[in-house]
Amino acid sequence: MPERHVSYLSDRRSAALLDAAPDAMLCVAADGRIAAINSQAEQLFGYPREELVGQPVEILVPEAAQAVHPRHRAAYAANPRPRPMGAGLQQLAGRRRDGSTFPAEISLSAIDTDEGLLTIAAVRDVTERLAARAEQERLKSQAERDRLEARLHQSQRLESLGQLAGGVAHDFNNLLGVISNYASFVSQEVAKEPPQIQWQAVRGDIEQVEKAAQRAADLTHQLLAFARRKVIQPRVLNLNDVVADLEQLLVRTLGEHVELVTHRAEDLGTVLADRGQLEQVLVNLAVNARDAMPMGGTLTLETGNNQIDAAYAADRADLEPGRYASLTVSDTGTGIPKGKIDRVFEPFFTTKPEGEGSGLGLATVYGIVTQAGGTVRIYSEPGMGTTLTVLLPVTSRGAGPAEAHQPELGGGGGEVVLLVEDEAALREVTRRMLHQNGYQVLVAATGHEAVDIMAGGQCHIDVLVTDVVMPKMLGKETADRVRGLQPDVRVLFMSGYTQGLLSAQSVLEPGVSLIEKPFSESALLAKLREVLATTG
Ligand SMILES: Nc1ncnc2c1ncn2[C@@H]1O[C@H](COP(=O)(O)OP(=O)(O)OP(=O)(O)O)[C@@H](O)[C@H]1O
Ligand SMILES: [Mg+2]
Repeated sequence: MPERHVSYLSDRRSAALLDAAPDAMLCVAADGRIAAINSQAEQLFGYPREELVGQPVEILVPEAAQAVHPRHRAAYAANPRPRPMGAGLQQLAGRRRDGSTFPAEISLSAIDTDEGLLTIAAVRDVTERLAARAEQERLKSQAERDRLEARLHQSQRLESLGQLAGGVAHDFNNLLGVISNYASFVSQEVAKEPPQIQWQAVRGDIEQVEKAAQRAADLTHQLLAFARRKVIQPRVLNLNDVVADLEQLLVRTLGEHVELVTHRAEDLGTVLADRGQLEQVLVNLAVNARDAMPMGGTLTLETGNNQIDAAYAADRADLEPGRYASLTVSDTGTGIPKGKIDRVFEPFFTTKPEGEGSGLGLATVYGIVTQAGGTVRIYSEPGMGTTLTVLLPVTSRGAGPAEAHQPELGGGGGEVVLLVEDEAALREVTRRMLHQNGYQVLVAATGHEAVDIMAGGQCHIDVLVTDVVMPKMLGKETADRVRGLQPDVRVLFMSGYTQGLLSAQSVLEPGVSLIEKPFSESALLAKLREVLATTG
């Protein structure tokens, strides 16, 4: 029961006590009339004290709530515990003298007096608090919007960089094919000469040309991987196997001062990916981690199963809901500063000294993973370390056929090749490679020319070797039309860049053979033997 008081609030001491409270205070008598208020209440409601005392308290209640208010009062009087008013109800409000209202927080307590129950209400105007909260919400959702926009922007930027890089890489590939193959013609000629001093020098020079061309070809291939234009041969794989097979190589790559720790998840879902490419992802990430730990540290490789639900995927344009297998690579290295982390997937972005990093490592990782339908996340804490997570969709497909057998080497035995290539220099270099290795070669600069040669009906060819991207008639159509004229013909496509021209998503269909540009003589010969060993 509330305490008993003999006199209530009529004396100066009580008035001073009320005035000392930080909130507006209202004392309401048992009959609902206002018995006393403090000066904060005068200010808050805009009434002078004399005008308010003696009035029913409903005068301070917004009109809409006035009718029900006496009932609430009666309910409180029946159980007068100190408590916030209207707990669980919607926002309370007070009404000022001018009729305007304000959101309020009201706490109630009661004193039992000779003249009945006296209810004391402390009223606080929460306009500012609500405004601050709304502002906070607004800022939060704005930040969330900004974050999503930045992510979208980032993937659009990478997309357009990819298109540019892919285009440049395509042209470079053809040029490199010409450079490196002519270089190897020269070295073959030189090798036939007796080992005299001046030839030694030429040999050394040509070796440099071949090496530079090889480096350029490696760069081009990284760019094509970033641009998602490499032809891939996806197989059903378990990331645990990829990690296990590469572990020894990684230990050697990392050096003694970096400890390698691996955690492989049990029952890991299998993914559909190109094994060579995944190995490249792992090596690139490990090398970056090593470089970030010059004083040593720990590199942790972890595989895991992940379920991405619709709510999580909704915010992320690059992610579909479903099951994913993950590969997480964490280091205890330098970390990446905030301002740089948005740029690390861009091709040629590097913080390494000239000549040490090309800035293509993470760009390649990005291209490979997105081409496989997955996504890469990066998290870094400057001074603490960096974690990269690769998510790849889990496939329900069973394991595919075993790897293709090693093709036999060696040249041709007079088989007839119809070679179609629009780039004159590349056509000539390829013709020469085939010719000097025992093939009879017919050449065509376009698909139409090739069809004309076949339509003459005079020749039977063993294999059609055609470029994929050509003006007017693409390689695929050329192959279809040549097959129409000679159904048993075997086909080998040459390309460094397919962009869905052979099949959707640059994925090689079973039964289609392809050699990647630029190719060496030995690679071409090996591939041809492989194709010729099949029945057309
Ligand atoms: N694990 C990491 N820790 C700290 N910084 C990193 C890490 N991984 C990448 N970076 C930063 O991102 C940049 C880009 O990485 P990326 O692998 O694309 O290129 P690179 O390593 O500089 O050169 P490349 O891989 O072509 O030899 C690096 O230069 C480095 O600044
Ligand atoms: Mg790197």
